[in-house]
Amino acid sequence: MKKEFRTIWWDKGSVVIIDQRLIPYRIKYIKIRSYKEMANAIKKMAIRGAPAIGVAAAMGMALAVVNMKSNNKEMLINRLEKAGEIIRSTRPTAVNLFWAVDRIMKIARESPSGEKLKINVLNEALRMAEEDIEINKKIGEIGSRLIEDGDKILTHCNAGALATVGHGTALGVIKTAYSQGKRIIVYASETRPRLQGAKLTTWELIRENIPVKLITDNMSAFLMQKKEISKVIVGADRILAKTGHVINKIGTLSHAITAKYYGIPFIVAAPSSSIDLNHNPDEVVIEERDVDEVLYIDGVRIAPRGVEVVNPAFDITPPELVSYIVTEKGVFKPEELRRLVE
Ligand code: MRU
Repeated sequence: MKKEFRTIWWDKGSVVIIDQRLIPYRIKYIKIRSYKEMANAIKKMAIRGAPAIGVAAAMGMALAVVNMKSNNKEMLINRLEKAGEIIRSTRPTAVNLFWAVDRIMKIARESPSGEKLKINVLNEALRMAEEDIEINKKIGEIGSRLIEDGDKILTHCNAGALATVGHGTALGVIKTAYSQGKRIIVYASETRPRLQGAKLTTWELIRENIPVKLITDNMSAFLMQKKEISKVIVGADRILAKTGHVINKIGTLSHAITAKYYGIPFIVAAPSSSIDLNHNPDEVVIEERDVDEVLYIDGVRIAPRGVEVVNPAFDITPPELVSYIVTEKGVFKPEELRRLVE
């Protein structure tokens, strides 16, 4: 197995990220020097995936203060509030973004002075990055107990190392199970419109020598009917503790409905930072992205001028379609999450 890579790290007053828009054609790292550049990188999806954008948000908040000359605590808090507002407005659906900004704001407010605030905010962001890798490894270890030798696993979008700081959630489970010697074949659904499955998931799995077959999104029902898929594992952008609904990349719901029809376990792997304790399904904002994502594939137009387009980036899978939710704290049935809010 190749050495695992990181998607984001702190580098002497700036942040380096892998530009995910170019994979698999090119591996390019970009330097982010300000919170505005970070907000733009999240919005334009140079960095993407719920846990990764959570850590990117935290590091963006750190950038907002560490390079400031002033050590006036009130000024620094004001700047963080402004940075937080801009970062929060980049992508509305993944709860990790909001969780990260809140966590940084709390540390900043609790700091006794401006000097301490800068140190504490940076240390917290760095801690969140390290924690993310540890949490994913734990999810991998716990989730791998649900994987059997010979499983043929469908995954959607990219919930791999690229969607996190490292190792991944759904792909982390697959990687851990594979490293235990379980023979696994992965079906990666391409994930239109942005093709994270085709471009990112296959790239990661090929890199790790894990057998992977690419399919288009509309092939999963036929493969399930033919008993070519024995499990489905996906990540999550938000899991609603009150109701057990799972919000993930558009197309997840179709795979879940089909898996239920054919009696195939549907597993969600995500860190507890993806659990939303407060909202109901109709209160969650589903990101609508630019129609050009649907009209063009890699710059080539595929539909006639004048056609109307909708482009919701996520869908909401109800709890009755979800077999297990794997977090770093254990395996839960969706209805068991309610206990977290009672
Ligand atoms: O729009 P993206 O690429 O950020 O969406 C990513 C997903 O939907 C992932 O499945 C989810 O964030 C889980 S990643 C561990």
